[in-house]
Amino acid sequence: MVTKTKSAYVCNDCGADYRKWQGQCSECNAWNTLSEVRLGSATRGGKVLRSGFAGAVDSSVKTLAEIALDEIPRINTGTGELDLVLGGGLVPGSAILVGGEPGAGKSTLLLQTLCKLAENHTALYVTGEESPQQVAMRAHRLDLPTNKLEIMAETSVETVCAIAEQKRPKILVVDSIQVMHMEEVSSAPGSVSQVRESASMLVRFAKQTGTVLILVGHVTKDGSLAGPKVLEHMIDCSLMLEGSSDSHFRTLRSNKNRFGAVNELGVFAMTDKGLKEVANPSAIFLQRGEEVSSGSVVMVVWEGTRPLLVELQALVDDSHLGNPRRVTVGLDHNRLSMLLAVLHRHGGIAVGDQDVFVNVVGGVKVLETSADLALILSVVSSFRDSALPEDLVVFGEVGLAGEIRPVANGQERLREAAKHGFTRAIVPAANVPKLPIKGMTVIPVRRVTEALEAL
Ligand code: TYD
Ligand code: MG
Repeated sequence: MVTKTKSAYVCNDCGADYRKWQGQCSECNAWNTLSEVRLGSATRGGKVLRSGFAGAVDSSVKTLAEIALDEIPRINTGTGELDLVLGGGLVPGSAILVGGEPGAGKSTLLLQTLCKLAENHTALYVTGEESPQQVAMRAHRLDLPTNKLEIMAETSVETVCAIAEQKRPKILVVDSIQVMHMEEVSSAPGSVSQVRESASMLVRFAKQTGTVLILVGHVTKDGSLAGPKVLEHMIDCSLMLEGSSDSHFRTLRSNKNRFGAVNELGVFAMTDKGLKEVANPSAIFLQRGEEVSSGSVVMVVWEGTRPLLVELQALVDDSHLGNPRRVTVGLDHNRLSMLLAVLHRHGGIAVGDQDVFVNVVGGVKVLETSADLALILSVVSSFRDSALPEDLVVFGEVGLAGEIRPVANGQERLREAAKHGFTRAIVPAANVPKLPIKGMTVIPVRRVTEALEAL
């Protein structure tokens, strides 16, 4: 019998597969990312497994109207910020991916959550990276209830599924997906094909048994999840735990959520007693000293479904370099260059011979264009070395023609600012609320020049 070739070439970045090796992946255009994957008996074994679980899915054909619309009961995690990011709690039968850099606190967050959940629900924690002793020690140190949560150290997906099948936990955590492997797949744990096959078997198990599956995923050096595209379409909800190592704040953000709003932001603080949720994040990111210095401005950004007040700092200084520096922390670098050009052309302020540094305080990442106006004003404030009033908030998008464009949810942003004691706001003219907001003077601006005059 002639044996056919049983290998494929899979891109380590996006998971596209090819029959022949090539230098560049035609899907994601990355170079040198294809690696050989021996398929072996994977397809055969896979078929058997695919029909292996009890409680098969309902495959009858119906119209949408015939499908019962029972509100899916959500399981509250007991942590408000986590529930918020999830869109209101855990949905049975859903698969959630929690990603983050090593040391971000993924294991801590999940251990805390599971210990609390195990009080009322059956839960199984599969640890592939730490020993059960290590996990138990951490749970004791954090004073978590330890008598209910079941834990297992295992890296074989088949075994995990078999045991979960017997135990039927409501919630199953697998820490982490990168160390899991399937016997049928012959490549090393952590490779794209292992991650893909392992995750798809676990997700299938979750869907068919109504288990909440939480997978922990590591982030590669460039900040993406290992094999990201591979996992993205399989899971229902993708959360990222982020935070710089020098700050004890951690933000949990949802990048994809089939059951709630995306880009929802939950804020935690890492303490010696584990992760503590921060109920009023605006207050944290706003801790300013007695005196407001030049270059500092407070902006209102929109995170998922709520406003967040964050301080933005700029430092403009004489440059000794031919190519002055443009450094951003927590903001898009290209956006800064663009806004400095707008400031020059339409505001008449040239900082071409200056180094410009901007920083979002507290390690938050701002992805929104509503930070544009605040950025321009903070640069001007630092450049002129004149501090802005401490009770001023700013938001608005700046266009290339120097116009100030409205942003979504203007009224809610202003209300949040008023709640925190701000009394003046520079906002796009179209964002001025119809009814005045108590205690808030709104200064509408249409162009960059008007905003500079308003200072
Ligand atoms: P961990 O949950 O192990 O991170 P991950 O699973 O994402 O890799 O978190 C480890 C880090 O958190 C470690 O650097 C120590 C810190 N930490 C605390 O500061 N306080 C605590 O109570 C705990 C449990 C961890
Ligand atoms: Mg861990």
